[in-house]
Amino acid sequence: DWAGYLANEPWAGYVERVKQMPASRWAILALVNAPVLAILFNALWQKIAPRKATDPPVVFHWLPIIGSAIWYGNDPIGFFQTCQERYGDVFTCILLGRKVTVTLGVKGSNFVLGGKSTAFNAEGAYTHLTTPVFGKDVVYDCPNEVFMQQKKFIKFGLTTKNFRAYVRMIEDEVDEFMRKDPRFVTYQQNDINDWGSFDAIAAMAEITILTASRTLQGKEVREGLNKSFSQLYSDLDGGFTPLNFLFANLPLESYRKRDRAQKKMSDFYVDIIKRRRANPDAETHYDMIESLKEQTYRGGAALRDHEIAHLMIALLMAGQHTSTATLAWTVLHLASRPDVAAALYQEQVERFGNADGSFRAMEYEDLRHLPVLDSVIRETLRVHPPIHNIMRQVREDVPVPASLAAPSSKSGNGVYVVPKDTYVLASPIISQLDPRIWVNAHTWEPSRWSDSAGVAAQALRTYTDEAGEKIDYGFGAVSKGTESPYQPFGAGRHRCIGEQFAYLQIGTIVAALVRRVELRLPTKVPEHNYHTLILMPKDPKSVHYRRRRFD
Ligand code: HEM
Repeated sequence: DWAGYLANEPWAGYVERVKQMPASRWAILALVNAPVLAILFNALWQKIAPRKATDPPVVFHWLPIIGSAIWYGNDPIGFFQTCQERYGDVFTCILLGRKVTVTLGVKGSNFVLGGKSTAFNAEGAYTHLTTPVFGKDVVYDCPNEVFMQQKKFIKFGLTTKNFRAYVRMIEDEVDEFMRKDPRFVTYQQNDINDWGSFDAIAAMAEITILTASRTLQGKEVREGLNKSFSQLYSDLDGGFTPLNFLFANLPLESYRKRDRAQKKMSDFYVDIIKRRRANPDAETHYDMIESLKEQTYRGGAALRDHEIAHLMIALLMAGQHTSTATLAWTVLHLASRPDVAAALYQEQVERFGNADGSFRAMEYEDLRHLPVLDSVIRETLRVHPPIHNIMRQVREDVPVPASLAAPSSKSGNGVYVVPKDTYVLASPIISQLDPRIWVNAHTWEPSRWSDSAGVAAQALRTYTDEAGEKIDYGFGAVSKGTESPYQPFGAGRHRCIGEQFAYLQIGTIVAALVRRVELRLPTKVPEHNYHTLILMPKDPKSVHYRRRRFD
């Protein structure tokens, strides 16, 4: 008898006081308790709300709207692996109000990356991040069919002739950097007994931008790096962070700097284009601006100057963090595995060594005959793929193939359906670190790539097989690659077109470094930092070096 019970003391007094509480008190109480109620309601709703038989399982989360974002943001691999154990390869999670269906494993990647562009749309997932940085009318700010033509134009600029010129330029830049940068002062002192050190990310970021600007970006951009271009780049880069991915526009100084830098950088490139058009025969250029100037869309329209400018910015941003991350992880691992570094050095001696202990210069063709260097880069990209998750916006209801995942009951035709207006996410890193596929999956072991009958070689064949399935999405025939457990450059329609350039750049830089210095790591190889858009190493990431020989 609740009424009788509450009529007795001490409850009667409380009840009376609650009844007499002023409205303002009620309002404050409601406000204070609203989040608690929302959390409780959200938790209860997940347990009792009727669920469509076709809905993939939803990852339980306490916080409404935020959903699983905190766990995912701090440790996406741990989060996905735990969800995989609980729910299987297909599940939906809430990430800051977005409903994201994650599809794991080789079949899961194939589902997202091999899907039709009318169903799975990259623009819808990325444009709010990329358009304010790249600028209008390119990449994800134009119809997909137009972007595919733009990808073709970029491919035209990545010629063997240009690549041949790049190897020498890159080695030159590394040489100059090591002879002048204060981080390499111990190297400059020509003392082979002393150890110096450099921060893996900071040093590799600088070498990456110096080499990319000298080659793909062109002479004017390289010269600009010593002047105002560096600041513009830094301001623009400040608009390429996880916060920008979450919120396209905020009233913050970093957003204002981003917008000002975008405009100035766009003008900077347009100015280069105009000057080159005015003096067509002044000198030979091997860069992308020169190639884009000549390209025309289907129907005959030339690329407009601002489109060339914005594509150049897109290429700068696409290559900068990905190559920096790969280089940073590579030097960290080499420094922690002197045996691998020694094999890499020996490979250089055998192919390039002169009788007096010096090295001949590298040529583009040499890069195909350096299996140790190749496997070091491949293995780094397996364990630390810079872009570890790939998202698409879902534009129509898409059934999940039963071979990937299906509800246990046969209702709803026995398939899951990813609903329109939500998102899908593939996570190549999960397959690349899957212990069911790779031996010692989490160990960085480049030698796994030299076993031609092994898992790694098989995965690579599926990814790149020249004789395999080829598709032309509008930028020339490419291997489909969507069914490989190794996809550091993505797969399908949005596959990276910078792969060959990245290999050339990273390979030449690593070779030039190991020729000049020995590396050691005083700490363990750092863990992944998931708070950056691209997978970077956490602190400490200081690499020790010692000059190899006197000059
Ligand atoms: C696309 C990785 C370097 C230009 C991609 C994608 C990945 C990737 C995973 C697919 C993204 C998606 O499907 O949403 C990498 C890695 C690199 C690298 C790991 C270096 C180690 C470069 C460089 C350039 C570049 C140097 C430019 C020269 C592009 C472009 C796309 C792309 C234009 C196409 C985006 C699309 O079609 O939506 N890259 N990339 N990348 N990358 Fe790279």
